[in-house]
Amino acid sequence: MSFRKFETEREGQIAFFDTFRIDYQNNDVLIDNTDGIWKGNILEFKLNINNINKVLFQAIKYLSKMRVKGESIPATILLVSLNEQICYVFKSKDYFDDIHKLYFGAASKNNDLFISHSPTEKIDYSDQTGAFRLLSILKEEEYMPIDLDENCICGWAERYYRENPKAAKGDFIGDDTGQVRIIGEIREPRHFKGLINPYTAKTNEKFKYLMDKLNDRLKKKDLGAFYTPIQYCEKAKELVNEAIARIPKGNDYIILDRCAGTGNLESVLTDEQLSHCVLSTYEYYEYKVLCERLMDKVRLIIPPIEMEDTYDRGYVKCADAMSKEYLENVLIKKYIDDEHCNIIMFENPPYRDDTSGMTKIKSSDFRQKSYVLEQMKANGVKKVNEIANRFIWSAFEYYLLKPNDAYILFSPIKYWKLDNLVNRKFYGGFLFNKKHFHAKSPSAITCISWGIEEETKEQLELKIYDIENDIIKYKGKKLVKKCYNEITKLFDKRKFDTDNVSYYYSNTNGSLVVNVQKPTIASDDIIAYFVGRGFGISNPNLNFNLLRNTYTDSHGFHIRKDVYKKYLPLLSIKYYLMFLRDWTEVELVCCSADKGFEYYDDYEFIKCCFIFANLNYYNKCLSTIDNNTIIKNELCFDNDTLASTDLNSYKSDLNKEEVELLSIWSRLLDNAKKTKEYNSNLTYSPYQIEQEINTYYVDDNENKVYNYPEINGDIVLLKNKLKEYHVKYITPKLYKYELIK
Ligand SMILES: C[S@@+](CC[C@H](N)C(=O)[O-])C[C@H]1O[C@@H](n2cnc3c(N)ncnc32)[C@H](O)[C@@H]1O
Repeated sequence: MSFRKFETEREGQIAFFDTFRIDYQNNDVLIDNTDGIWKGNILEFKLNINNINKVLFQAIKYLSKMRVKGESIPATILLVSLNEQICYVFKSKDYFDDIHKLYFGAASKNNDLFISHSPTEKIDYSDQTGAFRLLSILKEEEYMPIDLDENCICGWAERYYRENPKAAKGDFIGDDTGQVRIIGEIREPRHFKGLINPYTAKTNEKFKYLMDKLNDRLKKKDLGAFYTPIQYCEKAKELVNEAIARIPKGNDYIILDRCAGTGNLESVLTDEQLSHCVLSTYEYYEYKVLCERLMDKVRLIIPPIEMEDTYDRGYVKCADAMSKEYLENVLIKKYIDDEHCNIIMFENPPYRDDTSGMTKIKSSDFRQKSYVLEQMKANGVKKVNEIANRFIWSAFEYYLLKPNDAYILFSPIKYWKLDNLVNRKFYGGFLFNKKHFHAKSPSAITCISWGIEEETKEQLELKIYDIENDIIKYKGKKLVKKCYNEITKLFDKRKFDTDNVSYYYSNTNGSLVVNVQKPTIASDDIIAYFVGRGFGISNPNLNFNLLRNTYTDSHGFHIRKDVYKKYLPLLSIKYYLMFLRDWTEVELVCCSADKGFEYYDDYEFIKCCFIFANLNYYNKCLSTIDNNTIIKNELCFDNDTLASTDLNSYKSDLNKEEVELLSIWSRLLDNAKKTKEYNSNLTYSPYQIEQEINTYYVDDNENKVYNYPEINGDIVLLKNKLKEYHVKYITPKLYKYELIK
């Protein structure tokens, strides 16, 4: 190894890898911000190690994070003092307990108080003996088996299903209790042999709050399981108490939860209330935890005991709440038929999470045949695809039939707001943050107490609660409004004799596609294409787009010169739905055409949306060239475009923010014109400048270094200023004209 002194750790680290033939370029050596994982070793480099405790602790913190993520824990820790050519060797097993703790914040912070044991070896690798010894350690592929607990089980489950795509939940967490004794990986490690220690607890009770996250990929989609955090269960209990208080004296009641999971909702009820609970859940391992947790306290769990045939391919026989068999279950039916027994349903039915990325997985076909689904179709109900809707519809259809019956229901509000599934008496409700239900990102989920009397409401007032540091916090109130008309109602569907055949399409990123197999239209009159689907309550980025040419799936319309300003507010809507909502609005507000074109008479609003659209990054219209044909972008403020000509008519009405925005733009364009990437045949928008001119490279420290810092600075500035502009001038009017509702 060379004896030169290194200036940076990075330089020394690369020299070390090269010397010891660690192929860091073709292997995942540099993972998780560590200095390197190689075979059974974790490496931590310093130019000079002055404080071993501190550096060792940093490595231990990495190992702790790796355990949580389900990554194999190297058996050996190597601390390398590069300029001294000394390597300190430690064994991970000597720090077993420390690795099993959780650490928050960066691994390199607050490491001063850690006390290490002496290293098992100190190797001077400047001579041949030392170098040979180090080389042989680097070849060892040993790992330290870890203990599983609540903190890491999800990481290991995800890895297990990733590496065993066909595996089912039982293969991972199966236990030796009940009728089905599949001994899962966690109890008898086969795939993870030598990487995890067998989990010795008899049941999975400890993982009761995590059983949704331990589902295999198919089940995750199929079951739509998002567990309710305890703080929200407590809050919802208030609605249950009120519903119980409304029950006439002398009546019995049951609290029915057909999709109880592991029983989180019920876990907060009093013993007296529990004695009225009738519960079931469809997933086998949830059922087992549910029984263990609540069997002796509740009135009934369906099925009451596990029989030989209860386990049905990972599910619980008789417990599919959407089946005919379940609807006809005599044990439940007797309460429904009893005119002196009220039914209170307390449920968080499954729902699909559009952000989960699981939509491509096929559902197991035996679960597709849902009796409730057939009944909904037979009754002419349209919105049947969402599984939550099937639970909700069937609750009112088959169970909630007597005065004072009630439904305390957790669900994204779509069922009421867009699908018009429930028009019943509203007894109050809450808005909760779905992030705390193991969802990927924050969004709004409602918990509403419904009675059974018919009542049509245009809006509901909900109390907002978030959870901060495990404590539930009241955050004010929110009005939720019903929506009737999709924005597609406003689309311009005119066709003209002057339209020509064209084969030009745009990709979602705006780039040009020529598809000679599929003719579309173009004309001098057509300047853009707007893609738009549905209400945009979820995935607005996918569902709305402004492009120069036709988009293939035809969910949209061509924007023509004569009325183009009428349609630029659509981009303001998309932008709002993507960026400006806080969680209390995500999956709660959407776009609507309920007030039609009322907004078009508002000169100021149209002006603002015009300026916003022409300066906004999400306007993906590009100027392109196909052979010698230039397809010009007219929706930008470069010279000689339709938009720049029309901008003149607003010149005397510009407010100070608009003057500022336009001056940033003109500086940006001027600078872009001076670059070698600029093509004077094209007209440029901020998006096109960012795509084609704002080039960069990545330096040694993985930072982006921009070739034109002024251009990059103005792009960022423009984005920030446009955001403020939208909030001040556009957002309130989107609400006023119910374009956002
Ligand atoms: C959103 S989770 C709620 C679980 C629990 N009640 C809670 O709030 O934490 C929905 C539950 O419904 C169960 N489930 C899904 N489809 C079902 C079906 N067809 N019948 C019964 N339960 C079902 C899932 O396994 C999951 O436990």
